Amino acid sequence: MLDVHLDEADLARELRADVRAGFTADPRRTSPKYFYDARGSDLFEEITRLPEYYPTRTERSILDQRAAEIARITEAKTLIEIGSGSSEKTRLLLDALLGHGTLGSFVPLDVSASALSAAVESLTAAYPGLSVRGVVGDMTRHLRHLPDGDNRLIAFLGGTLGNLVPGERAGFLGALRSVLHEGEWLLIGADLVKDPAVLVPAYDDAAGVTAEFNRNVLHVINRELGADFDPSAFQHVARWDPEHEWIEMRLRALSEQRVVIPALSLDVTFAAGEELHTETSAKFRREGLAAELAAAGFTTRHFWTDPAGWFSVTLAQAGRPGA
Ligand code: AVJ
Repeated sequence: MLDVHLDEADLARELRADVRAGFTADPRRTSPKYFYDARGSDLFEEITRLPEYYPTRTERSILDQRAAEIARITEAKTLIEIGSGSSEKTRLLLDALLGHGTLGSFVPLDVSASALSAAVESLTAAYPGLSVRGVVGDMTRHLRHLPDGDNRLIAFLGGTLGNLVPGERAGFLGALRSVLHEGEWLLIGADLVKDPAVLVPAYDDAAGVTAEFNRNVLHVINRELGADFDPSAFQHVARWDPEHEWIEMRLRALSEQRVVIPALSLDVTFAAGEELHTETSAKFRREGLAAELAAAGFTTRHFWTDPAGWFSVTLAQAGRPGA
């Protein structure tokens, strides 16, 4: 079953507004949420299997090791997953929570109706007796459509928190806190600050899959807005910003590019060497993440990492310490 709060027309309207605003800004920018059409989602799946891209497999190993403990501690009755995509890692949590005997329903929320309906269908078949209800919506706008309940656990995995900059994170974590009652749970997967020699290749792999994923945003703008970008005229750039402790992805025009965007009645020129900012992927430190959670009204109960300390999974509880 799917609850739809976002349709194709909403998405098209949002894309037009975002591209207009982003292309008239300096430097020009696009939002990472537009990477994920069918091709972009496939490319991302391919990224998660690359030798250089450690986050997915590292997070999975932490969840694999901690899922039973998460079930014992939370005794969650409802698992809500934000930005669930294919819900693959979720099965580890579902198995543990069902094994513990507390779980009755699973609610994945995602912007992609196609990814969600496929996930809902396969999970419904795999877990008879579990109520699975997908919510098609935007994680920054539709949290209020999540079902009320008690002892809910919201999972926000994959490191997607890093797509938000600090001010946005404060707003988003505050919004998550406001849908939860005191004592309910939040599970966050966050990538950690580490040697740039490990970080940069994860966003600039030898096979060029991330480069193709990055350029995919231009294919999306071409298709959806009738634009005439030549994606091959843009070079993939992944850079570690040591001051902000985030990876930035950009697309750099190799020569001057004149682009017409009919749906916006907009002509844009990229000078040779001009960069379009396409993604921020922030990396975290334990203390910083706990402080951000505390500022939003959560208490960190557990902070788990892999042996190398590359990725983290944090279990936090709504409310103040000792409450
Ligand atoms: C899905 C946002 C977690 O930032 O690592 C992967 C997206 N971008 N390679 C990340 C991404 C380039 C990914 N997140």
